[in-house]
Amino acid sequence: MSKLVINPHNKKDRISKNIYGHFSEHLGRCIYQGIYVGENSPIPNTNGMRNDVVNALKEIKVPVLRWPGGCFADEYHWKDGIGPKEKRKKMINTHWGGVVEDNSFGTHEFMELCEQIGCEPYINGNVGSGTVQEMSEWVEYMTFDGVSPMAQLRAENGRKAPWKVKYFGIGNENWGCGGNMRPEFYADLYRRFQTYVRNYGDNRVYKIACGANSEDYNWTDVVMKIAAPFMDAISLHYYTITHTWQNKGSATGFNEHEWYLCLNKTLKMDEIVTRHIEIMDKYDPEHRIALIVDEWGTWFDVEPGTNPGFLYQQNTMRDALVAAINLNIFNKHCDRVRMANIAQMVNVLQSVILTEGEKMVLTPTYHVFNMYKAHQDATLIDSYIETKEIAHEDVKIPNLHESCSIDENGRITVTVANLSTKDSYDIDGIIVDTKINKVSGTILTNEMGAHNTFDKPDVVKPAQFKDFKVTEKGIDFKIPPCSVISLTIE
Ligand code: AHR
Repeated sequence: MSKLVINPHNKKDRISKNIYGHFSEHLGRCIYQGIYVGENSPIPNTNGMRNDVVNALKEIKVPVLRWPGGCFADEYHWKDGIGPKEKRKKMINTHWGGVVEDNSFGTHEFMELCEQIGCEPYINGNVGSGTVQEMSEWVEYMTFDGVSPMAQLRAENGRKAPWKVKYFGIGNENWGCGGNMRPEFYADLYRRFQTYVRNYGDNRVYKIACGANSEDYNWTDVVMKIAAPFMDAISLHYYTITHTWQNKGSATGFNEHEWYLCLNKTLKMDEIVTRHIEIMDKYDPEHRIALIVDEWGTWFDVEPGTNPGFLYQQNTMRDALVAAINLNIFNKHCDRVRMANIAQMVNVLQSVILTEGEKMVLTPTYHVFNMYKAHQDATLIDSYIETKEIAHEDVKIPNLHESCSIDENGRITVTVANLSTKDSYDIDGIIVDTKINKVSGTILTNEMGAHNTFDKPDVVKPAQFKDFKVTEKGIDFKIPPCSVISLTIE
């Protein structure tokens, strides 16, 4: 019997809903085909956006969406993507698959997408190959209300009123695809670029500095030392790579050892976030600056026969566990981690949605986001689960993983994952000094490699969870192997 102790009276910080954010890049079939099919497509759409995809995204309450990249962001020149579509520049997406980018999805289309989903836009500007003027004018174009060249241009393109844009990233991976810079150089560039990212009217831009690649703690240290007073947040990218960059393994055809390796790598997120936060604490003890994990998720070899530059991968129960673990980790670090963006929303890496022509499939990762949505803007509460180490050969992981929150109506959400592929566990849940009136639960469980396909879209889907008993001190339940459970306690 493992003890799960929850103390709803020991309230911590608010779990920002933006931890449940997403990322969409001009990469493969994410934007084109996955989200945007154009007004004339036979696929049902509203102003070019797929209705099936938008409706599915509304259901999981996507709070914020990052665009246009990724590496694409530091090659993107926003003026190419405005004005009459037939006049927009056609070019090669040199970074991702060498396909034609016709710029038919640009700023206006992205804002329309966010409006349809009901989420906040998070725009990533170009530092690597762009100019200060270009970035400054983009912000003016989107947010200035009055007489100005960019406001005039926006009106000529059919949009008189400015948009509200809060989240703005100053470059992406500037240590790599965004210019191969050293942190000292980037930090100075950051200070310069952000100076001209202006607040117009009552629009307040929340400036996000490009952060580190996984365990590059020196990057965080240097950028914080030089530029902390000029930023609202700094980012972090950490992908779960089971083997190596050269051999990332199959998304679906994996053995038990690879299950353990993958979850072991994903659990490292906790240590990585903790160590970056320790560095941030040196320069920002008041916790003003947020850590934003704006790219995370699994990265496997592409599906056989697909363009290697499109990063299209399937999604199994293993991905569901990766999502559950990472979201639990972010919840527990919500005092600093105030946004996270899984990579990427549709058809790329650890996607919540896959499409093929007019067909759409919801992945196991989608279902986890749906089961966790009650954590959005709830308050983290003190919780602890007794775990034991389970291992495959030399790779060790804990058997269980959890996080808990309470919402403004006093409803408690408990999310627990069982990382074992074989064993179920009995859990003795203690909820300190709390009268329980009602409990309901949802479970996602299946074989480790189970996944949804266009022919069989419902192999992995959530079901009602009833295998619990309310006791005098809390709730006892049994969690089956390879599963994620969400409990609502009222
Ligand atoms: O998500 C795919 C790529 O991964 C992004 O473009 C880049 O930022 C990261 O290296």
